[in-house]
Amino acid sequence: MNEAVILDVEVRPERIEKKIKQGYCDRMTFDIEEAVRWVNEAKDKGQPLSIGLVGNAGQTHPWLVEKGILPDIVTDQTSAHSLLDYVPLGDLEELAELRESNPKDYTKRSLDTIARHAEAILAMQKQGAVVFDYGNNLRAQAELAGVDMRLPTGEFKYPGFVPAYMRPLFCEGRGPFRWAALSGDANDIERLDRLVVEMFPENRALVRWIELAGKNIPHLGLPARVCWLGYGERAEFGLRINDLVRQGKIKAPIVIGRDHLDCGSVASPNRETEGMLDGSDAIADWPLLNFALNAVNGASWVSFHHGGGVGIGYSLHAGMVIVADGSVERDARLERVLTVDPGLGIARHYDAGYERAKQMVEEKNILIDSMK
Ligand SMILES: NC(=O)c1ccc[n+]([C@@H]2O[C@H](COP(=O)([O-])OP(=O)(O)OC[C@H]3O[C@@H](n4cnc5c(N)ncnc54)[C@H](O)[C@@H]3O)[C@@H](O)[C@H]2O)c1
Repeated sequence: MNEAVILDVEVRPERIEKKIKQGYCDRMTFDIEEAVRWVNEAKDKGQPLSIGLVGNAGQTHPWLVEKGILPDIVTDQTSAHSLLDYVPLGDLEELAELRESNPKDYTKRSLDTIARHAEAILAMQKQGAVVFDYGNNLRAQAELAGVDMRLPTGEFKYPGFVPAYMRPLFCEGRGPFRWAALSGDANDIERLDRLVVEMFPENRALVRWIELAGKNIPHLGLPARVCWLGYGERAEFGLRINDLVRQGKIKAPIVIGRDHLDCGSVASPNRETEGMLDGSDAIADWPLLNFALNAVNGASWVSFHHGGGVGIGYSLHAGMVIVADGSVERDARLERVLTVDPGLGIARHYDAGYERAKQMVEEKNILIDSMK
C-alpha cells in the first residue's frame, strides 16, 4: 500500500501462505536468489511487490551482506522479545522438541542466532541502509548475546521507531485508535470509514489510509478498523459513533479502544518512551495514572499489562476500551474517557519538555496541574 518493494523473511512457510491467502503478501519463494531477482525486477519496473522468503533471518541477512545486496530500509518483526518464540537456526521439528525438552538450551541457541541476525543489520546500517527497531526488543536481546549494540554515548546504534518517527505524533495525543462492530456486519465499518473521512478531510494521510484499508484489508474476526486519531478528534468521533448507534444507523454497539502502544499509557524504555528528552524513560507513574483515570472516567474495561511488545521486564502499559451503546449516559463517559486518555499523552510529553506538546497545551487550552 505504500508502493514499495518488500522482502519479508519468515522461517515458517505456512505463515507466508496464510498471508498470501489473506492478500497481505504477493509471492512466496524458498530460494533467496529468486527473491532478490524478483526484488530487482519489481524495482526496475517501478512496481510495488511484497515477497515472502522462507528462511531464517540469522542466515538470510548475513548472506545479503556477504553478497553486497543492500536494502534502502531495514527493520525487524521476528518474535525476538521472547527467546522461546524466536526461531534459532536449525531444523524446525528438532527445535520444537528442544523447546519442550530443554528450554535453556533453546534460549541459548536463540541468542546465538540473534547475534548473527543483529550483526548483519548493523552491517547494513554501516553501508548506508536506514535502520530502525520496530519494537520487538531485538537490540536488547542482541546485547544479551554479546553484540556491541551501543554508541559510546550509551544510545543504541540504531533508533527505535518511536524516537525516530512517532514522538511528534505522541506529543499531539495521537496514536492507534480503533473500533470493532459488535453486529459483525462489515457495512457498519464502511459507514464509520465514511464518517471519519467526512469529519477530518484535511488529514490527507488519514484519508489515504482509510481508502486503502477499505479496499485492501480483509476483516479477520469481528469487522474492525484502526487509524491514528489525536486529542479532540477521538472524543468528537466517539460521540458521533454513539449518535449513529442511537439512531439505528449502525446495527449494534461499537467497541472503541486503542493500542497499548499509545501516547500516554506506557513506560517502555526500549520502545514508546525510549530516549525521552528529560530521561524519564522508565517512569511508570504515567501508565498507572492512565489506568486509574480511565477507570474513574467510565471506560467499559481497563487493563494493566507487563511486557507489551518488548517482553516481560521491559515495559508497563495500560489498556482502555469503551463501548458506544447509543445511550445518552454513554455520551458523557465517551467524552471524558476519549478526552483524558490522549490528553494524558500530551501532559506526559509536556512534562518531559517537548515543544510540540507545549504548543498543543496552548492551542487546545489543556489544563495541566504543573502549569499553575
Ligand atoms: N511496533 C509495533 O507496533 C508492533 C506491532 C506488532 C508487533 N510488534 C513486535 O513484533 C514482534 C512480532 O510480533 P507478531 O505479532 O508479528 O508475532 P508473530 O509471532 O505473529 O510473528 C513473528 C514471526 O517471526 C517468525 N520468526 C521467528 N524467528 C525467526 C527467525 N529467526 N527468522 C525468520 N523468522 C522468524 C515466526 O515464525 C513468526 O511467524 C513482537 O516482538 C511484537 O512485540 C511490534
